[in-house]
Amino acid sequence: MMPDPNFANRTLWIDDNLRVLRGINSACIDLIVTDPPFNSKRFYNAPLGSEAAGAQFDDTWTMDSQKDDWADLQEAADPALFHTVVGAGLSAGEPMQAYLSFIAPRLIELHRILKPAGSLYLHCDAHASHYLKQLLDCIFGSRYLNEIVWKRTSTKSLGTRRYARDSDRILFYSKSSTFTWNQQYRPHDPDYVEGNYRHNDGDGLGAYATEQLTGGKAGGALAYEAFKGALPSKGRAWAPPRRDKFPSEAADKLPDNYEDLDVLAKCAALDDAGLLYWTRNGVPRYKSYLSTKQGIPASDIIAHIPAVSGNEATGWPTQKPLALYEHFIAASSDPDDLVFDPFAGCATTMVAAERLGRRWAGVDVDEVATGITLKRLQQHSDGTAFLDLSTQTVNLPKNPPQRTDPDAPRRSRNIRAICWQRLGTGDRRACPGCDRAKYYDDFHLDHIVPRSKNGPDTDENLHLLCGACNGRKGNRLTMSELRASWGLA
Ligand SMILES: C[S@@+](CC[C@H](N)C(=O)[O-])C[C@H]1O[C@@H](n2cnc3c(N)ncnc32)[C@H](O)[C@@H]1O
Repeated sequence: MMPDPNFANRTLWIDDNLRVLRGINSACIDLIVTDPPFNSKRFYNAPLGSEAAGAQFDDTWTMDSQKDDWADLQEAADPALFHTVVGAGLSAGEPMQAYLSFIAPRLIELHRILKPAGSLYLHCDAHASHYLKQLLDCIFGSRYLNEIVWKRTSTKSLGTRRYARDSDRILFYSKSSTFTWNQQYRPHDPDYVEGNYRHNDGDGLGAYATEQLTGGKAGGALAYEAFKGALPSKGRAWAPPRRDKFPSEAADKLPDNYEDLDVLAKCAALDDAGLLYWTRNGVPRYKSYLSTKQGIPASDIIAHIPAVSGNEATGWPTQKPLALYEHFIAASSDPDDLVFDPFAGCATTMVAAERLGRRWAGVDVDEVATGITLKRLQQHSDGTAFLDLSTQTVNLPKNPPQRTDPDAPRRSRNIRAICWQRLGTGDRRACPGCDRAKYYDDFHLDHIVPRSKNGPDTDENLHLLCGACNGRKGNRLTMSELRASWGLA
């Protein structure tokens, strides 16, 4: 049985998402659609006077500002991930290494909290998409599905001595091979319909195109025989379509045992039902009705959804279109599924989830996100009423959640003794912070990743430090910084 989520539907945390992620139960989220900073080397500020005024985030990265994340990554003991980040630093420079050090521990947690049938859409752009894909390959293994290109804008500025950068990338991964998938379609282009569905017999079945009655593989020896004087062309065999290829009114004209007939009898049944079209050269083709086509299967190039504009625009820097995220949520989740966005911004993922009848939760570090999320949930961008917040609650917890799932790492009762044993043998043992030998009673229990960062209260995250080291480390220093502060490697 899947663990339940340890938070309510419609929850928004204003916090660093790593603190929140570390507290979420494993395998309780159906879908993550998220749009982190891109390493665009820009500082984003919402325009004064806009709904989002005050919202801002800095998309510039240095190893100095990311030293906690870097220490986390070293301690995550994932050599592939670690070397990918170091390699990116060598090829693309320190800001890229800092940016990936920030993203990597969050991606590890996102993978952990997804259900086996869950998927992740990670919105980014060409600044870092290739490095992010490498990180995701390390974490999700071979479950890469698509790199979706979204044409976000039409070229306005020219003269930069390179091709205009008009597209974003969305990396799409699933946690397992049994992921949720609802095929999406786009309506056919009217010119395509006009050019291809040219026939109409006026029999009430509507416009149709014609398709070959032959295929590459033979369905029995008769598949190469003549049918009403016609032979399949060289290398082809008769391949009459299944009954469900036709609208039900047409399929009803076929005999009940149609699927059991041999290929020539099937061709004859189709002809009797008026479902074949004979060319002037005497070649039979079958009628393929427009009413059976759902549209064009959604592709990994999305050029029909424009960037946010007009009433939909809140002023939030880097706001994404609702239509784009509704497209992803409809394809990769079912009604009532739980959709999560750890970089929520002005709540595009959450509003899209609500509109499609999914449950949702999100995190953003910027407190301006609260007001704008509540406003968008109460009113559609066209001004019409949306969610009634007097009867439906949006939860705004002050603290990150605490894991309650059976896999949650736990703290042993005799944790002091376990940590003491880890320091070796003898009456006095070396403190991991300063290397000085101390007695058992001189040591204090310390969280390696501090509680202030939602470091778990588990055996793995606890160790002993002498009083001096414990006081110096506090909630601020990583272990390598503590050792460096004593002049130690
Ligand atoms: C690219 S924007 C997301 C925009 C969003 N898709 C929308 O349509 O409004 C990235 C967001 O990540 C937030 N953010 C950056 N670092 C964060 C962190 N450590 N924890 C939570 N949110 C963070 C920023 O405040 C910003 O709103």
